[in-house]
Amino acid sequence: MTQDAKHVSLPTLVPPSDEFVRQANVSGMDAYREMYARSVDSTEEFWGQLAEQELHWFQRFEKPLDWNPPFAKWFVGGKLNVCYNCVDRHAMGGRGNKAAIIFEGEPGDQRTITYRELQRLVTRFASSLLELGMKTGDRAVIYMPMIPEAAIAMLGCARLGIPHSVVFGGFSAEALKARIQDLEASVVITTDGGWRRGKEIRLKDAVDEALRECPTVRHTVVYQRTGSEVKMEKGRDHWWHVLDESANENVAAVELDSEHPLFVLYTSGTTGKPKGILHTSAGYLLQSAMTTKWVLDLKEHDTYWCTADVGWVTGHSYVVYGPLAVGATTFMYEGAPDTPAFDRWWRLIDKYKISVLYTSPTAIRALIRQGDHWPERHDLTSLRLLGSVGEPINPAAWDWYYRVIGGSRCPIVDTWWQTETGAMLISPMPGATPLKPGSGTMPMPGIVAEIVDNHGKPVEDGREGFLILKKPWPSMLRTIWGDPERYQDQYWSRFPGYYFTGDAARKDKDGYFWVLGRVDDVMNVSGHRLSTMEIESALVKHPAVAEAAVVGKPHEITGQAVCCFVTLKKSATDVDKLGLELRQWVAHEIGAFARPEEIRFTDSLPKTRSGKIMRRLLREIVTSNTVAGDVTTLEDMNVLTSLASQHDED
Ligand code: WT7
Repeated sequence: MTQDAKHVSLPTLVPPSDEFVRQANVSGMDAYREMYARSVDSTEEFWGQLAEQELHWFQRFEKPLDWNPPFAKWFVGGKLNVCYNCVDRHAMGGRGNKAAIIFEGEPGDQRTITYRELQRLVTRFASSLLELGMKTGDRAVIYMPMIPEAAIAMLGCARLGIPHSVVFGGFSAEALKARIQDLEASVVITTDGGWRRGKEIRLKDAVDEALRECPTVRHTVVYQRTGSEVKMEKGRDHWWHVLDESANENVAAVELDSEHPLFVLYTSGTTGKPKGILHTSAGYLLQSAMTTKWVLDLKEHDTYWCTADVGWVTGHSYVVYGPLAVGATTFMYEGAPDTPAFDRWWRLIDKYKISVLYTSPTAIRALIRQGDHWPERHDLTSLRLLGSVGEPINPAAWDWYYRVIGGSRCPIVDTWWQTETGAMLISPMPGATPLKPGSGTMPMPGIVAEIVDNHGKPVEDGREGFLILKKPWPSMLRTIWGDPERYQDQYWSRFPGYYFTGDAARKDKDGYFWVLGRVDDVMNVSGHRLSTMEIESALVKHPAVAEAAVVGKPHEITGQAVCCFVTLKKSATDVDKLGLELRQWVAHEIGAFARPEEIRFTDSLPKTRSGKIMRRLLREIVTSNTVAGDVTTLEDMNVLTSLASQHDED
């Protein structure tokens, strides 16, 4: 990463200021240590007490945990409703006139939705779903831009016990189709489009294309966002505002089992097929709410902004469910950071007096590049806490975020977690943990993390190994939708009895965790998880492609970039145009954010004698253009020389 010029020298330990400690939800390291000790000594009791205190129950649970490894049930026998906890109890409990959601669209339109108004909008939307014949247990796919109706749709589904799957608006029709099919969804909730860099992203068109092969979908609900023309199929497609005309507000929150499925979120694994990560109700809600308090330190007067899209897990846990569960004000912005200019984010922070900002290293790096004069034009003194997620934060990004954005005043919480974990699991508590830049610091209460070697034995402090988790936690994934065997195999078989994160990490002598990155065939591009296999299977669907191997290549802004090695069929023609065409093809199959940075054509790929592509070698080639590692299993040595020399010619 060339941005990390040598002159960035970071402090090795940054303790919280006295002022921050005094006002923090968790004050001082002793408070953290006491809570952590209690949480691991009597984990079930710890979570059980919090669940009773922090959530509204229609019926109390009988026991905190039923653990039948690797299948967990939390808060067994309890009945609650996630939407009721996020909306109704605040609307009716003294926060009725408090802003729940503050929104600004890319064109500059603004909305403030109070908890009472949110309750009205959510119940009316739920009433529309009932009108369409949707029932508890039916599934909904949500494909929307970052507008309040995306959150309203999620909450409306939760109110009725209709598990939702939000598909990021950057995914293509093909990717959307695969997700609808896997989930066997009955309804798709979408918009005509959304605004991005001044252009319309036409979502309904993509839905129409996907639905040609989705027989389970009976209805769509289309919220009018851009007002552009879209096709509406009679009987199937319904305008949100038309349904709303006959909607009512008497839709009670359904009393659901603690383990009722709340949502499925698709993420990339090590095969070509995305995994539907299943999260359920009570445990997910509790842990996203508690980490919102402990780590984001939200208070009654905060205006909090998490820049993630609701299409990713961060948007679920820390735009919608966590902040609303604790009755906070969550800010949403629809568009791009550079529209109309590179100071849009800083302008928003100044205008809305954002006090807590949660974003990703990749966004920070992209904004650093535009220069300090953009943030310097704005008053950012409303900020008191900063957060980071998605990948390890590199020194140059940490330094800039801390000094230029945080005015050397705001702690940075570097939060490690995953789609599967549902909530932050390794992170500082900002009023307690002294920070070490680049480290996620220490495990959250109830989390027992360890670094182990290949055989599952703990490694010495300072040594690199595999990051595993030794105890179940309330917001853990429950299974992979429709595939419990894959769930068991992917997460619980490599180190029997333990959850395997797929990450490499080390722990230093002070007990701080340093996550180094994935050890499997998963890339991290702009903080988004992409599977090498998924892109490879997209590539080999193209008629000219014989074989493809995909690896992540270090990239200054996005962390990693997608680099593809492709061998063509003998019949392939027009090779000159193919590079561009294949990049386009991947964008079509998966989404524009997955578009490869580079396609390299080659006559053959490095393989083992058993025919397995040696991606490790390709990774070395794109990283350093040499191969230093072990090549004894390589079938044909000549391949390497030709792959490496090809690059020199570029
Ligand atoms: C993977 C999970 C959690 C929401 C965003 C990504 C990497 C995430 C950090 C961090 C180092 C991190 C890991 C993890 N990762 N946060 N603070 N420090 N690495 O969710 O798509 O499920 O990806 O992102 O490799 O396993 P995801």
